[in-house]
Amino acid sequence: MKYLLAAAGLVSTLLAVPAFAAGNAEAGAAKALACIGCHGANGNSTIVPELPYTPPNIAAQGPIYIAAQLKLFKEGVRTNPFMMGSAAALTPEDMLDLAAHFSTQALTGLEADPALVPAGQKLYRFGDPARNIPACTGCHGPDGRGVDVSRYPSVRSQHAAYSYIQLKAFASGERKPLAGNEQMQQIAARLSDDEMKALSSYVQGLR
Ligand code: HEC
Ligand code: HEC
Repeated sequence: MKYLLAAAGLVSTLLAVPAFAAGNAEAGAAKALACIGCHGANGNSTIVPELPYTPPNIAAQGPIYIAAQLKLFKEGVRTNPFMMGSAAALTPEDMLDLAAHFSTQALTGLEADPALVPAGQKLYRFGDPARNIPACTGCHGPDGRGVDVSRYPSVRSQHAAYSYIQLKAFASGERKPLAGNEQMQQIAARLSDDEMKALSSYVQGLR
């Protein structure tokens, strides 16, 4: 009996840890046909300044992060008229399959503007302790790869135009993060517009 109770306790502890069941990348590739018009055939998007939306690269993005963001769009927590339409019809299984597909695609990206690298790199690596801005490396890593189990996204090779919009949206509170991951809103709110531009350009050049 004692052992049974101990075993039950262990099982409930294991269940309390949020498990991530990986999706099926092959099934995801077929489902991705609905996404490629905006995110590109392999998850590397082309940004057209005339269009009213800025689709990010999602190739090589962390699968746990992708699935979590799709759920946020479907629930209307993260709002974007173009993305919410696409997420509305997705089942939890679709989200995992799409995440498995896009996370295994090769990522390509543009370079940083050399004029913005010194300022962007300094802030990215060291933050600004006097203004309570932590180093971005602490969560997104020195190469911008993120930490997927913590839902810290990859920011490397991302379009600067997209990253800039996201920093603005976090700062204004328009972009709502996953519950428990509110840090990005507070950090973005402390950045100036020039710093957001420098950081967005810098991470575009990270590989
Ligand atoms: C009509 C264009 C459009 C279509 C179709 C579309 N997306 Fe998006 N997607 C966007 C835009 C625009 C954003 C950025 C939204 C924002 O600024 O918050 C986005 C954001 C995302 C993000 C968040 C990425 C990040 O780094 O946070 C994911 C994941 C995503 N899309 C996956 C998909 C998947 C999977 C599909 C297909 C089922 C899809 N999208 C279809 C336009 C589109
Ligand atoms: C404490 C951890 C943490 C630190 C430090 C941090 N971030 Fe983030 N960042 C996050 C998390 C978590 C998200 C995703 C939030 C969500 O929507 O769930 C994120 C999202 C982002 C995004 C949007 C990515 C996408 O694909 O949509 C950008 C850009 C970004 N961070 C840049 C930065 C920059 C630049 C810095 C340094 C000034 C920084 N971050 C510091 C945790 C952090």
